[in-house]
Amino acid sequence: MNGTITGISGPTVSADLVGVRLYEQVQVGHAGLIGEVVRLEPQRAVIQVYEETRGLAVGEPVTATGEALMVRLGPGLLGGMFDGLQRPLPALVARDGPFLQAGGGLFPLDLTRRWHLTPCLAPGAAVAPGQILGTVAEGPIQHQILAAAAGTIKALDGGDFTVEAPIGRLADGTLLHLWQPWPARRPRPCRRRLPVTAPLITGQRCIDLLFPLVKGGTAIFPGGFGTGKTVLEQAIAKFADVDVVVYVGCGERGNEMADLLDEFMALRDPWRGGALLERTIVIANTSNMPVAAREASIYTAVTLAEYYRDMGLQVLLLADSISRWAEALREISSSLEEMPGEEGYPTYLGSRLAAYFERAGVVETCGGGRGSLSMLLSVSPPGGDLTEPVTQACLRAAGAFFMLDAGLAHRRHFPAINWQQSYSLYAQEAVGFFSDRAADWGGLRQRCRELLRQEEALREIAEIVGPEGLQEPDRLLLASVGRIRDEFLSQNAYSDEAFSPPEATAACLRGILADHDRGVAGLAGEAAGATTGGGP
Ligand SMILES: Nc1ncnc2c1ncn2[C@@H]1O[C@H](COP(=O)(O)OP(=O)(O)O)[C@@H](O)[C@H]1O
Ligand SMILES: [Mg+2]
Repeated sequence: MNGTITGISGPTVSADLVGVRLYEQVQVGHAGLIGEVVRLEPQRAVIQVYEETRGLAVGEPVTATGEALMVRLGPGLLGGMFDGLQRPLPALVARDGPFLQAGGGLFPLDLTRRWHLTPCLAPGAAVAPGQILGTVAEGPIQHQILAAAAGTIKALDGGDFTVEAPIGRLADGTLLHLWQPWPARRPRPCRRRLPVTAPLITGQRCIDLLFPLVKGGTAIFPGGFGTGKTVLEQAIAKFADVDVVVYVGCGERGNEMADLLDEFMALRDPWRGGALLERTIVIANTSNMPVAAREASIYTAVTLAEYYRDMGLQVLLLADSISRWAEALREISSSLEEMPGEEGYPTYLGSRLAAYFERAGVVETCGGGRGSLSMLLSVSPPGGDLTEPVTQACLRAAGAFFMLDAGLAHRRHFPAINWQQSYSLYAQEAVGFFSDRAADWGGLRQRCRELLRQEEALREIAEIVGPEGLQEPDRLLLASVGRIRDEFLSQNAYSDEAFSPPEATAACLRGILADHDRGVAGLAGEAAGATTGGGP
C-alpha cells in the first residue's frame, strides 16, 4: 500500500493511505522513517513518526508494511542495548557515528552468531503457540525457543543454527526459526495468572524491611530532581534476585546511560556470577533522542520482559522515568488535536498506565512453566508535586509506593525514602517470605516501625522544649532512632554495603534494637535503684 504525505505536524504526519490498519507500521518519506498508524479517517491515515521529522516534506511517499510495530524475539537479546524501536545501538553507532541517522532499521539480533539447539519435541508432536520447541544456552540462562504457531511438527533438528536459518517445519509447511516477531503493544499470552509466592529481594534495607516487594509486583518511586531515583533504580537493577533485568532509560540523560553500561560490564552478578550485563537488556531512549520513540520504548521493553517471563524466568523491568513517557504521550496527543485532560495529558493517560501495569504478575506460561514479571518505575513529578496527574495515575495502579523525599536527599540521607508516606501493599505476604531468611523478620519490622512512629511524635515535643528538656528514656529513644536512620535506613550505593542480604539486614537492625533494649533496661534499673535504695 502506497500513498503520499499530505500534512506534517510535529511528530505526526497525515497521508492519503487507504486500506491500512490501526497500529500498522509504515515507512515515511524518502528516508524511510519508522511510523505507526494511530488514527484512520475516511480518506487519510494519521501516522505517529518515531524519528525526527525535520526535513520531511509534503508529497514524499509513505509505504505501509502490512504488520504492526514488532519486537524481534530470539536468543542474543541479553547483554544487548537497543533504542526504543529495538534497533541495536552499537550497530547504529558503528554505522552512523554519534549522530544517528533516521530510518533504515537494523535487525536487533546478531545474524551471524550460531546457537546450539537441543530440541524437546520430536516429529509428529502437536504444538501450540508458546510451547517449548527446544533450548539454546544464552549466557547464564537456558533460552527456550517457543513455538509461534500451532500445528504438527514435521521436522525439528538439533545442531548449530543462526537465528534466521530454519530449524524445522510444521506439517502445513510453516518454517520454524529461533526467532519470532511479536507486536509490541499486545501483551503476550499466558495460561493463567497465579498468586505471588516469592519476595523480590532488592538488597536495600529500607525497602526489604519496611516496604517489601514481591516477584510479580509493581512499585513506583516518585521524587523531584536529585532525590536519587536513578541511583536507586540502578542499585536495584544490579542486586535484585531475578534472572533477567530489562532497564529502560526513558528520556533521561545520555551520559547516565553510558556510565551504567560501563559499570554493568565491569560488575559481577551477585546471584549467579558472570558479568551483570549478561542478564541485562538495556533500552536507551535518552533525552537527546526523538520524543515519539520514547512512547514506543516502554512497550518494546515490556514485550522483551514478557518473552523471558514466558521461559519460566523471574524478570524485572525498570523504567527511569515514566513521566518522560507520559510527556511524549502528551506531545503526540496534542499534535493529534485530541481533547486534553488534566494538565494537557490525554484523558486516556490513566487507562494506558493501568493497562501497562497489568502486564506485570506471576503467570503459568503457555509452556507450562511459572514466570514472573515485576516492575519498578520512577516518576519525576515537576517540582516534586505528587498531586500531578502522572503520579496520581501511577498511584492508583501500583502495589508499592516509595516516596523520595527532597528533605532527606538534602541531608544526604540516601536512599531518600520517606518512611512515613511510603507503603507496600505486599507487606503481609512478603514478611512471610522474608521470615524464611530471618525468623524474627516480622517482629523486627514491627518494632522498627513502632520506634519510628514514637520518634515522630517525640520530635515535635523535642523541638519545643529542646533535647535537655526531655526525660532520659525519651533521649534514649531519639538516640536509638538516630542510629536506625543513619546505620540502617541509609545505605550508600557507592560503598561495600550497597547490597545487603536479608540476613545482614536483620542482623543490623537486631544489633541496634538490642543496644536500645539494654539502654532501656539500664534506665529501669537506675530508676528502681533510685526508688528502693534511696539517694545518698
Ligand atoms: N543510595 C545513594 N547512595 C549515595 N549517594 C546517592 C544515593 N542516591 C543518590 N545519591 C546521590 O544523589 C545524587 C542524585 O541522584 P540521582 O539518582 O541522579 O537523582 P535523580 O535521578 O532523582 O535526579 C547522586 O549523584 C548521588 O550523589
Ligand atoms: Mg535521574
